[in-house]
Amino acid sequence: MCGIVGYLGLNEKKEILLDGLQELEYRGYDSAGIAVIEGEKLNNFKALGKLENLREKTKAYHTEGFGVSIGHTRWATHGKPTELNAHPHVGAYSYVVHNGIIENYQALKEELQADGVKFLSQTDTETIVHLFEKNNKTANTVFSAFEETIERLDGAYATLLITEADADTIYFAKNGSPMLIGFNGDDVYFASSDTPIIGKATEVYYLEDGDYGYARQGEVKLFDAKGEKTFTKQALTADKVSAQKDGFRFFMEKEIYEQSHVMGETMMGRVLDENIAFDELDADFFKDIKAIKICACGTSYHSALTSSYLFERLSKIRCDIEIASEFRYKEPLLTDDTLFITISQSGETADTLEALKMAKRAGLKSLSICNVDNSSIIRESDAAILTRAGIEKGVASTKAFATQTMVLWMLALYVGQEKKSISKEVLKTEIEAMRKTPKSLLVEEKLHSQLTRMSKRYLHGHGFFFIGRDIFFPLALEGALKRKEISYFHAEGYPAGEMKHGPIALADSTLFTIALMPKTMHYEKMKSNVEELSARDATILAISPEPFELADDFIQTNYDSHPMLEFFEMMVVTQLLALEISVRLGNDVDMPRNLAKSVTVE
Ligand code: F6R
Repeated sequence: MCGIVGYLGLNEKKEILLDGLQELEYRGYDSAGIAVIEGEKLNNFKALGKLENLREKTKAYHTEGFGVSIGHTRWATHGKPTELNAHPHVGAYSYVVHNGIIENYQALKEELQADGVKFLSQTDTETIVHLFEKNNKTANTVFSAFEETIERLDGAYATLLITEADADTIYFAKNGSPMLIGFNGDDVYFASSDTPIIGKATEVYYLEDGDYGYARQGEVKLFDAKGEKTFTKQALTADKVSAQKDGFRFFMEKEIYEQSHVMGETMMGRVLDENIAFDELDADFFKDIKAIKICACGTSYHSALTSSYLFERLSKIRCDIEIASEFRYKEPLLTDDTLFITISQSGETADTLEALKMAKRAGLKSLSICNVDNSSIIRESDAAILTRAGIEKGVASTKAFATQTMVLWMLALYVGQEKKSISKEVLKTEIEAMRKTPKSLLVEEKLHSQLTRMSKRYLHGHGFFFIGRDIFFPLALEGALKRKEISYFHAEGYPAGEMKHGPIALADSTLFTIALMPKTMHYEKMKSNVEELSARDATILAISPEPFELADDFIQTNYDSHPMLEFFEMMVVTQLLALEISVRLGNDVDMPRNLAKSVTVE
């Protein structure tokens, strides 16, 4: 969750880097840094925290004439947010910036340390620069030293390297993390997304996985596993806002489409072949813990509720969930064998933060699951796990919910693993399913256009009931919340089996029921509940892999092997449905009325 900018040419490099990083700052603001080589002169600046700190630090610095330069804004993954861990990372005569995670960095680091290399930071990135300088001692050319370096890296990366050994060149490589090259005459730009170079470069080439090469003034050479590669540049848009939305109409839409990708980032380095790893947690973090209590608000509360099923089922640990604003005033009984977990996208929600403070006062150990590093909730907690969803701009939360739920699922397995309450077989099956999650979050064009067409039938009615059982009940709550937030219609999430205890009295043809009917979980029971509603003339939209003859509308999902895969697929359906209804109603999708992205008041 970081940002990269690079520039090679005659213009003022510091300003290009800082302006570009400003566009990417939302990707991470633990620290930022730049490195510039002009002729023989090498300059490097780093600052902790927001980019304005780096601006302040470089106030008196200006570049002149031709040079190469790289910059980075960081969202900590390996190693704490400190100045030493800030990029660019330095070797003896080279600098590197990197996005992503080098999965085999530990092995590479040990190998380099055995050769006497001293590491300054705790990052995976630093291995790249030392490995490059090691290879450069024996390689025929600087480029082949870079090539040999890239060949040894496992994991996802986008990286830029500059070196005094070849002072007018930028070396680059991309695998799994985004990077592009911008062109304007002899000037060459690099960035991890196109916003930093809009208005500067006129043409662009979006690097593909496995691409690497080098850039010199007026010359860019590109290679992949097959050798040198020809590439076609395309015109770069001049419209910044639409570029930030990557061509989507709304941030919410972009964020729904991003879920598949960010889920990969959430799992990276944590979902291993046979176990779950959280570098953030000490080995004995769960030692004296006998129960879990989770507090959150809104969408984050729904991910918590989902996890209560997973914790008890998979890790065999008692798990209670509380709405933070209720918890604060109920005079709860708290015991210090309970782990207090808070979940928050923003990390600033007042009710959640206050609940956390209460739990701490009662002597409970705390863990936060959060999307914004250095936020108040993270700072207040004993430990924190970042969801790595990237900034969420749409007020209606989507990818934050998906990644929170994933972290909680991973945590449920982790607790089971640590407490030896989960069998190897179950762990294996869960991990296999987890790895399929990014696929289940891909948005198919056919599905999206079906929902666009269908949305016209959901612009009226006296109520919308989203119903589900088990983990699909919290998903129903979340589906209804999305519907309420951006279409301003009354909607409720309800446990399907509970409808007959009251709400069924509302059933008529303008009561819309959105039924979540997974095939891997309680299908027959769910079917009976929906039949009861259909018999009372309610209009049914069924979401299921299994065709359902009583459905007035039907969205067919895939036959998946695991309930969580069905969960994520159905989540996308409910998000897109809410979006398309809101679009038809002409509402402000990204900034719905009366709401705010971060609720810092009680
Ligand atoms: C709904 C939504 C809100 C938030 C809630 C908590 O789409 O975004 O319900 O989930 O305000 O916010 P965080 O997660 O920032 O604590």
